[in-house]
Amino acid sequence: MSPRRKFDATLITVDVHLAPETMHHALRNDAQAGLNAMPKDIPPKWFYDHYGSQLFDEITKVAEYYPTRCERSILMTQAATIAEVTKADTLIELGSGTSDKTTVLLDALRSEGTLRRFMPFDVSEQTLRAAAALISTNYPGTEVHAVVGDFEQHLHTLPVGGKRLIAFLGGTIGNLEPAKRATFLQDVANQLQLGDHFLLGTDLVKAPERLIAAYDDQAGITALFNKNLLSVLNRELDADFDHSDFTHVAAWVPERQWIEMRLEARRDLEVKVVALNQVVRFAQGEQMRTEISAKFRRDRVESELADAGLTMTHWWTDPDGDFAVSLSTPST
Ligand code: SAH
Ligand code: AVI
Repeated sequence: MSPRRKFDATLITVDVHLAPETMHHALRNDAQAGLNAMPKDIPPKWFYDHYGSQLFDEITKVAEYYPTRCERSILMTQAATIAEVTKADTLIELGSGTSDKTTVLLDALRSEGTLRRFMPFDVSEQTLRAAAALISTNYPGTEVHAVVGDFEQHLHTLPVGGKRLIAFLGGTIGNLEPAKRATFLQDVANQLQLGDHFLLGTDLVKAPERLIAAYDDQAGITALFNKNLLSVLNRELDADFDHSDFTHVAAWVPERQWIEMRLEARRDLEVKVVALNQVVRFAQGEQMRTEISAKFRRDRVESELADAGLTMTHWWTDPDGDFAVSLSTPST
């Protein structure tokens, strides 16, 4: 299906693959499956309405949440090399959010003299439009072509041609379960032609206490972010979840090497979800999973990329080895 394409006043192109009706339908399906699963499980992409995106932005500033600061420091040290190696004219950013750190890459590509086009790609339309407008203003002469889409479904819609760098930052790849991650990496690899590159941010395995603190900050911003999912379900599916009935939980699952965020019912509950025509029951202490955030070691990143047909050419970490950014190309 061809996207709804809108040209707004700033001449930013916005392709909309996820119109509000499509989003609503997808959320309804995910909620139907997830609220009836055992254990209950809702995919993390539904955190990111505009308020959820703002809360994520707040998380990136709390002391315990190191990934954003570490990734930014790696990008600042390596951006010139990335620009020199890739000589990309098109930077495509998946799960772009505010594209705040991305300016480090844009600056480097501009200095290299190759930057022509920026394509932020996100499910969160309002945040995406704001980011696209800011970048368009700050990078005059650079074409900004935003895509409202699901990177698990719509990668095939990306235009081909030119020298492309696809960036997937923040460690968002860790929010995909292993089978979905493999499919996603295969989709990325299918997009890439010889001479194109894939820049990937991955959070690394470390002491569980630090990981848990990063996902359960003292100021309670991550708890608000987690519970915002309940507000999304209330608004979009006419449900009556009450935030005060749930506790935010962050747990390290050693056998899977991932953090799980969950919402735990404080008492036996019956929640009406009008759009599903259903009453959903929670027993006291029951936990609904809302996110996985997988942590990696270099060998796993390299082998998962290789399984998708990508060769890792560069691997950079911050000095403490907390976070990694890798660059890969299609294997020949
Ligand atoms: N890349 C930014 C933002 C990370 S937050 C950073 O590094 O700080 C994760 C982002 O991915 C959010 O903006 C969210 O809206 C987006 N996102 C989550 N699931 C998505 C999906 N399935 N398709 C497209 N975007 C998604
Ligand atoms: C976007 N993603 C990489 C974040 C993470 O760390 O998994 C989302 C997040 N969840 C809780 N805090 C931040």
